[in-house]
Amino acid sequence: MSTLLEAEHLTKIFTQRGKEPFRAVDDVSFSLKAGETLGIVGESGSGKSTLAKLITRLTDITEGTLKFEGKDITNLKRSQLKEVYGNIQMVFQNPVGSFDPRKTLGYGIGESLRNRNVKKEEVDKRVAELLEQCGLDREYAKRYPHEVSGGQCQRAAIARALAVEPKVLICDEATSALDVTIQKQIMELLKELKEKHGLSFIFICHNLALVQMFCDKVLVLYEGKVVEKGIPDDIINDPKEEYTQKLVEAVFA
Ligand SMILES: Nc1ncnc2c1ncn2[C@@H]1O[C@H](COP(=O)(O)OP(=O)(O)OP(=O)(O)O)[C@@H](O)[C@H]1O
Ligand SMILES: [Mg+2]
Repeated sequence: MSTLLEAEHLTKIFTQRGKEPFRAVDDVSFSLKAGETLGIVGESGSGKSTLAKLITRLTDITEGTLKFEGKDITNLKRSQLKEVYGNIQMVFQNPVGSFDPRKTLGYGIGESLRNRNVKKEEVDKRVAELLEQCGLDREYAKRYPHEVSGGQCQRAAIARALAVEPKVLICDEATSALDVTIQKQIMELLKELKEKHGLSFIFICHNLALVQMFCDKVLVLYEGKVVEKGIPDDIINDPKEEYTQKLVEAVFA
């Protein structure tokens, strides 16, 4: 399997006037191969979303290196990043908020295609296909974000991320706002997409049980640092750190 992403010693330091510099992500290393799913777990504030923003370069990397398909992308400028980031897409924590409330879901899903000058009929056809791939009727293209449930909106957000045919999809607690049954359905969808299209995932969440079900490997973050990494079963059966122990207990409580 070829390595898609390689992060070495990634660090993000936030500096605010009158305050000590704050290491939100501290010396994090990992790799992601084609077709693999990496889980990132940790309590609120442990640095998960900041790490996702470093990987997608929505925020600048303070220290460390990031490679995509062997190419160093740590310091690429916005214009140069465009090409790389067709390959890495992110689905955000709050699906409803990530769509423009005044525009239909279909409009949002087709946006990246229109930006690439794809013809209108072709865009409409792709949007319908993407919706169906994500378990929604094509009729949902005409709905507005407030006219669908949280789970349906999440499916639409995944459809939008898939429009550019990325190699890596990062889901930042994409399912946390949803109840457990819907969460599981979305995870099943992601699994299906992974099997069909050979997609790789980075799946960020609080829930170790979901990570155990769907991820090949996992990083446990605490105060920005990786305190444990490995195969989910091993970590759940034999957590080395007290912090991980607590996360495990929370799952089986
Ligand atoms: N732009 C910023 N400036 C200063 N501090 C920030 C900034 N963004 C995030 N932080 C801090 O970095 C830490 C990590 O935040 P982050 O959003 O990555 O946590 P998280 O693990 O995603 O939490 P949650 O599970 O609640 O989503 C927090 O203490 C947060 O306050
Ligand atoms: Mg977060």
